[in-house]
Amino acid sequence: MTSFELVKVALDSLYAEAQAEHGKKADATIAACIEYLAKSYSGLNTPGRAAVDYKDPATRFAYVYKYVASHSDYVVQVLEALQKQRKPIFGAENIRVSCVGGGPGSDIVGVLRYLDENKHVEKVSKVTCYLLDREQAWADTWTELDDSLKTDLVLHANFQPLDVTDPDSWAQQKKFLQADLFTMSYFVSEVKSLDSGGVVSTFWKTLFKNAKSGALFLYDDNGHDSFNNYFDALWKAEGLKCIVEATNSWVWPRGNEQKSELGDYLNKFGQQPKLKTPLSYRVLQKL
Ligand SMILES: C[S@@+](CC[C@H](N)C(=O)[O-])C[C@H]1O[C@@H](n2cnc3c(N)ncnc32)[C@H](O)[C@@H]1O
Repeated sequence: MTSFELVKVALDSLYAEAQAEHGKKADATIAACIEYLAKSYSGLNTPGRAAVDYKDPATRFAYVYKYVASHSDYVVQVLEALQKQRKPIFGAENIRVSCVGGGPGSDIVGVLRYLDENKHVEKVSKVTCYLLDREQAWADTWTELDDSLKTDLVLHANFQPLDVTDPDSWAQQKKFLQADLFTMSYFVSEVKSLDSGGVVSTFWKTLFKNAKSGALFLYDDNGHDSFNNYFDALWKAEGLKCIVEATNSWVWPRGNEQKSELGDYLNKFGQQPKLKTPLSYRVLQKL
């Protein structure tokens, strides 16, 4: 299945939830939520801003509709860029992946699609995944995606509530630190300006310090220097090695990804899914 086909399955379920919550106003509410997200993302650098709120099913529909297919495809493209430097990427049959801010499922869908499309190179047969996110409601959305993934890979997915601004929520969680790959897709930008008193930086430092040797970290995000510079300073201070990177370069979902899979939804909200974007990425390794 392509990412857009998977997203369609998740959207059908979220649309029913949004209708149950908002009745006849569901479409108008979703359109307003798409605007809300765009406005929130354009103000991510504003110190003291409110956290983006994903609880309402209309907001989660808006997010999945607009962003999940392309974000998961960007993850595939970053892993393909890494594969040019390091082939195979994974040396084991069983791997662990921790997706920080990965509740909507974009990151793990990208990883699984990469493994599936590159099974002639990658010998991974089982993936244990930790989806770490502050918003518990994403667990339902992820389940829809999980059920629809058609792959031979054995997947053990664990959704774990974790708020990077609240050390009490992560200090006692240890398993996710054993990952072979950590993904941070469009997450650093989401929490950078919530770093009052350095609480978010402490999370990143703890993550880098306690990850195992050889662990990989995939960062991809808005092509914006303030996020790149902030993140670069954090990983450089911990002595990680950058294997592959790009800064503010334009990307599109690959040719097999067709937004037309989203059918009638494309005509309902006056907004199309995100496709082309300036992307910055880094893949880092702990030595
Ligand atoms: C822009 S979305 C990125 C989602 C996904 N990684 C992707 O690329 O599509 C940001 C995610 O971070 C989560 N999030 C926001 N603040 C958080 C926090 N303080 N701790 C953990 N997760 C948080 C949100 O619930 C949301 O799932």
